[in-house]
Amino acid sequence: MAKRQAKAPVEGRIPLMAGNWKMNLNHQEAVVLVQKLAWTLSDKRHDRTRAEVAVFPPYVDIRSVQTLIDGDDLPIAFGAQNVSVHESGAYTGEVSASMLAKLGCSYVIVGHSERREHYGETDEWVALKAQVAHRHGIIPIVCVGEGLAVRREGTHVAFTTDQVKRSLEGLTAEQVAQSVIAYEPVWAIGTGETATPLDAEEVCAGIRNQIDRTYGGAAAESIRILYGGSVKAGNVAALMQQPDVDGALVGGASLDVEEFSAICRYYEMPVM
Ligand code: 13P
Repeated sequence: MAKRQAKAPVEGRIPLMAGNWKMNLNHQEAVVLVQKLAWTLSDKRHDRTRAEVAVFPPYVDIRSVQTLIDGDDLPIAFGAQNVSVHESGAYTGEVSASMLAKLGCSYVIVGHSERREHYGETDEWVALKAQVAHRHGIIPIVCVGEGLAVRREGTHVAFTTDQVKRSLEGLTAEQVAQSVIAYEPVWAIGTGETATPLDAEEVCAGIRNQIDRTYGGAAAESIRILYGGSVKAGNVAALMQQPDVDGALVGGASLDVEEFSAICRYYEMPVM
């Protein structure tokens, strides 16, 4: 596949700035954060063609966030951090894709490394979650990324593209085209250790090439590939200059309104 042009602004692929709140903020705190975020973005005149903004609150906050966003017609999307592989039934503690769809979730994060590590989620499980999301019209954000040992061995591109292959199993090329992948090297999550822009580009380009080989050029051109791992206002602009980085999945910094708002306006940030 031909090397793509550096993108600014992108035609076709609108970058996505996704705030993964993890297990933080109750429903009242969630409403306050979303109100402030919307105000900050409108005050600073965020260019919506340069980035779509989405937040990923804990399940119990979603209804409150939905009511606010829909009621005030805020230009912020929202989604969940996880979903059950099952449609419905006796699965205590689980939340189904149809429930998330009913709440208006546009996205769902699947296969985050914290779920892979603490809850034993496998690529096969992640693929089932991506499938159930698509069945209900929700776009999965499929997370992949290597740990420190793999990075030190230098096999991170092969490791990550294998994860991608298995985690997208069972999706059609059209579904893959609409999906989002988040490359989050585990060693860079919550550590303050960011992959360099070229580290991020190496793996994101490898993923896009993998999609090209398996699902064809159209899917490779439209799928969005995010980078995640200690993204901040100070490093986002350089990451976003990379041709295969289509946005960021942001953890800690998404809980700070000013910081996340600046990340969403990466196009105004200095390249450091
Ligand atoms: P941090 O931005 O806190 O490193 O978290 C990244 C992440 O895991 C987002 O899903």
